Formats: sequence, C-alpha cells, structure tokens
Amino acid sequence: MSKNILKFNKIKKSFDHKNGKVNIFRDLSLEIKKGDLVALVGPSGSGKSTLLNMISLLDKVDSGEIFFRNTNLNKLNEDEKNHMRKNNISIIFQNNNLLHDFTALENVVMPLIIRNEDKKQSYKKAKFILNKFNLSSRHNHFPDELSGGEQQRVAIARALISECDLILADEPTGNLDYKTSFEIFSYFLKLKKLSKTIIFATHNRELANKADYKLSILNGHIKRSNA
Ligand SMILES: Nc1ncnc2c1ncn2[C@@H]1O[C@H](COP(=O)(O)OP(=O)(O)OP(=O)(O)O)[C@@H](O)[C@H]1O
Ligand SMILES: [Mg+2]
Repeated sequence: MSKNILKFNKIKKSFDHKNGKVNIFRDLSLEIKKGDLVALVGPSGSGKSTLLNMISLLDKVDSGEIFFRNTNLNKLNEDEKNHMRKNNISIIFQNNNLLHDFTALENVVMPLIIRNEDKKQSYKKAKFILNKFNLSSRHNHFPDELSGGEQQRVAIARALISECDLILADEPTGNLDYKTSFEIFSYFLKLKKLSKTIIFATHNRELANKADYKLSILNGHIKRSNA
C-alpha cells in the first residue's frame, strides 16, 4: 500500500470573477506522506487557503485529481463528502468559524456529538483538551466572550478532538502570541508522533522552519524545500 495520504495529480484551479478569470494553479502535482508535518507558505493571495479548501472539499478543482489514500475526492457524492469531513479530515479555519450560540465547551465537543459518540466520555475529553490549551476557566464562555487568541485555541481544540488522520490548519497561530504559538506547534509535534499528518498555512517563518519541510507557493507553482 502507498504511504501517501494525499496525492495531487495535475490540478488546475481558477476562480471566475466579474473582473476576469483568476488563475491560481495551472498544473499542480504533489504527494504528502502519512505522518508529515508540512508548512504551507507563500505570499498573501498565493493560494494557500485555496489549496487547503480543495483538500477539505470546500472548493472544487477545475481539473485533475486529489486522492486521499486511495479515494479520489472529486468522485465523492455529498454523503461521502460529509462522511470524509466528519471522520477523516479536521480543519482549523483562518477565521475560526466557531458556532456563536454555543459555549467553548459545546463547540469543542460538537464533532464527537455529531459522530454519536458517548456523551459523557465526549465531554470529559473536551474538558481535558480545553484545559491543555489553558482554557480551564473559559469552558462556559461564548465565542464573543473570548479574546481572538482564545477563540483560535478553542477552534484548534475542536479540530483536534476528533483525532482525524489529516489535520489542515489555515494560519492556526495568526492571533496568538509567541509562546502560545509555540505551544500549539508542540501539540502538532505530538500529533505527528501519533502518525497524524498536519498541513498548516503560515506567515510565521520561525514556525515554518520547524516543520518537516515547507511547500512554498509562488505564481501558481509549488516548491518543496527542507525547513
Ligand atoms: N471566490 C473567489 N473569487 C475570485 N477570486 C478569489 C476567490 N477566492 C479567492 N480568490 C483569489 O484567489 C487568490 C488566492 O486566495 P487564497 O485565499 O487562497 O490566498 P492565501 O494564500 O490563503 O492568502 P492569505 O495569506 O492572505 O490568507 C487571491 O488572490 C484571492 O483574491
Ligand atoms: Mg489564506
């Protein structure tokens, strides 16, 4: 069996806009192995979020294929896509996407509740992970009662609780101070030890340099370099 968890084959991606077509990727091929910790870098507007959105099935490719293990993501129907998002891919969005009518604890427990896991165990797990991110006194705060960095940590906790094999993080440390950013990163290292694959988009050079390798996007091309 292949050790790749992700494979991109000749991906083309553009956006149609009223001011004209925006070409993002013309011919993108790429392989990512299970357990890789990958930093996705490149200037603002280069296509980092677009790349993550294509993997998480939020954006469609124009042509080419993306394989998750042996599954061609472009061939999935809506039910299969939902199943994939629920069970296989965790996403930490650039704007944290917390549910505003739910507390921090309820937001974090949500992925497990959706999967019908045992309620008591799920809450126990959610509390544990929130405490790990220094949010033990914020379980019952609603998102608008949290600082930007606290919201971001809740969003990260929510993505990590589901223990998916592939974790996509779009600027996960964007709102965080130096120390907290490195704490989040050390959590990524722990996940890597559990053979999870993590791809994180970042403008933080120091963090990018700590990944296994960098994928740099520039003018629609992607270059792999050792971090
Ligand atoms: N729906 C859309 N319609 C038209 N253009 C779009 C659309 N979504 C994104 N774009 C354009 O695609 C380009 C890539 O956007 P993307 O969000 O992937 O960049 P990014 O590398 O994540 O940037 P940042 O570092 O600022 O987050 C941008 O120039 C953006 O303006
Ligand atoms: Mg982005």
